[in-house]
Amino acid sequence: MGEGGAPGEFWLFGYGSLIWKPPPHYDQRIPGFIKGYVRRFWQASEDHRGTPEAPGRVVTLIERPFWETLEDVHSVSDDKVWGVAYRIRPDKVEEVQQYLDIREINGYSIHYTPFYPADREIPTIRCMVYIGLPNNPQFVGSQDPERLAEHILRSKGPSGENKEYLLMLERALEELAIDSGDEHILDLATRLRKLEAQCTPGVTAPPEVEEAFAVDNELNRVGTTDEQEEVEKASQQ
Ligand code: BEZ
Repeated sequence: MGEGGAPGEFWLFGYGSLIWKPPPHYDQRIPGFIKGYVRRFWQASEDHRGTPEAPGRVVTLIERPFWETLEDVHSVSDDKVWGVAYRIRPDKVEEVQQYLDIREINGYSIHYTPFYPADREIPTIRCMVYIGLPNNPQFVGSQDPERLAEHILRSKGPSGENKEYLLMLERALEELAIDSGDEHILDLATRLRKLEAQCTPGVTAPPEVEEAFAVDNELNRVGTTDEQEEVEKASQQ
């Protein structure tokens, strides 16, 4: 189809599951980033990490000027979205495009963007990228991070548990480069681990969760409002 680093090459940029689950028939994998977008867990997934009855949440890219008009608890420290570019073998491009159309449907559309390899010796590559635009039916918009982490924790679909997608993404990003972490992903993963520790019997929660539980338990043991006030006063002293 003539897109890519050189005429006739086809390059695909992955910023979600494609980072750890590559497309078939690639012959090069390059870590790097694109610019001008913000990655957010604001796309519903009815076919991979959720179902039509209970959609999960997966990542999409939002154009930065539009993102700046939205409410978001998470900030963005630089203008990079880290991920991986794959070069597809020339004789397999059509086959892979068909595979991707099936795999990535559900609100995503095809776009092209410059990709900047982490290795600065490699020139910029024009890549195809799947984006769930704000006008697609699966785009859920800005989310409260705690509610979002809870939602991810309880969702699952044909490709597996939604939490696995988040945690795999967190780890895959950490492995790309020294500065390839993503605040939004890291915060959601941290919240999810805490929530999970709270609801898994026998698993020790982090100290701050244990502390919150200890106070709750104290209060729960108290019978009357008066007695409860005494306990609250005592714990404040
Ligand atoms: C990705 O991994 O980059 C991706 C996968 C599915 C849809 C959109 C992006």
